[in-house]
Amino acid sequence: MTIGVLGAGQLGRMLALAGYPLAKSFVFYDMSGSPSAGLGEVIVDREGKYLDDFLARVDRVTYEFEHLPVEVAERIAQHKPVYPAPRALQVCQNREAEKTLFGELGIPTPEWRIADSAESLQAAAEALGCPVVAKSNTEGYDGKGQAVLKSPAEAAEAWKAIGHSRLMVEKFVTFSREISIIAVRAIDGNVVFYPMAENVHHEGILRYSIAPAPGISGDLEAQAHRYIKSLLNELDYVGVLTLELFVTADGLVANEMAPRVHNSGHWTIEGAKTSQFENHVRAVSGHPLGATDARGLSCMINIIAEHGDTDRILELPYTHLHLYGKGERPGRKLGHVNVLADSYDELKWRVRNCASFLPGSPEFSCSLTKG
Ligand SMILES: Nc1ncnc2c1ncn2[C@@H]1O[C@H](COP(=O)(O)OP(=O)(O)O)[C@@H](O)[C@H]1O
Ligand SMILES: [Mg+2]
Repeated sequence: MTIGVLGAGQLGRMLALAGYPLAKSFVFYDMSGSPSAGLGEVIVDREGKYLDDFLARVDRVTYEFEHLPVEVAERIAQHKPVYPAPRALQVCQNREAEKTLFGELGIPTPEWRIADSAESLQAAAEALGCPVVAKSNTEGYDGKGQAVLKSPAEAAEAWKAIGHSRLMVEKFVTFSREISIIAVRAIDGNVVFYPMAENVHHEGILRYSIAPAPGISGDLEAQAHRYIKSLLNELDYVGVLTLELFVTADGLVANEMAPRVHNSGHWTIEGAKTSQFENHVRAVSGHPLGATDARGLSCMINIIAEHGDTDRILELPYTHLHLYGKGERPGRKLGHVNVLADSYDELKWRVRNCASFLPGSPEFSCSLTKG
């Protein structure tokens, strides 16, 4: 079976790495002009002229990137099975559609407004009460296209800085931590959940994911399962879906979702019985899903901007290094390290030790280090 993947970045690379042992082949379709998957066959198509060539080579299609025109996915769906269906893409790439769906399904979100001018941004900030977070309604990732307004007077400046014609404006959520839930739905509707991850962001970019997230109550976990399951069923979803959540004094508040494998699930490569990548390939291919239990405790450390001291990291007996073959650039995801341990205490010092070989890594500060 040949799986067509829309997008050709590191997520696609890791899907292929997980799919080869199951004898899957991969063809990537890249509209960005800078594919980095580095394996499989890559069709670079900035003008959308080679879609038919792509379709002729694949049996079914999935995504590793959600910021591509929905029309492309819909066109593909007329010829080949597309998992998840294009509606998932349409909802996940548009913050307004996403938060509207969350609301319809009873999934709590920050209070929000849409702004389509500097004036309406100011009005939204006044109505919601500052601080607020303004985000481009489409195309945002890694905290790009966002601004925090401390007062409505900052609206004109923020509008200009973001430079988009439509913004999602959210009340700033006071959270104790950020977590994510990753679930997989098979073609027959079977759903499995991974243990949740606690995620530490720095300047809008994920830096650390600890899994299983320490100290999550059964109630909170059940809540997260309910939320993501309702999304999976509503979207008649096939594959891996990720839901990012804030933990607040009033329970879980949904931030956003991604219709694909997710950076906060990279720990599953060595840290779970079946990785998110393999389970996505299994789901899309119509195979039974694999066990999602954790193998001990993990922390994923992202390698951002600079590779750091690769050999020192490789010398550590508790690390697994994953490099994406990309060039160094500020803010760019170049790889990640999965650190494994048998206790959270051990995990903490192993992560700090490993991070000391990665220049620019922010201090490892999470629920494990705060009291
Ligand atoms: N309403 C909010 N309140 C507090 N922090 C927020 C809010 N929205 C986003 N953030 C912070 O910014 C990060 C990136 O925002 P997110 O909406 O997830 O954008 P992206 O699509 O770039 O991942 C979040 O993980 C969180 O740390
Ligand atoms: Mg996010």
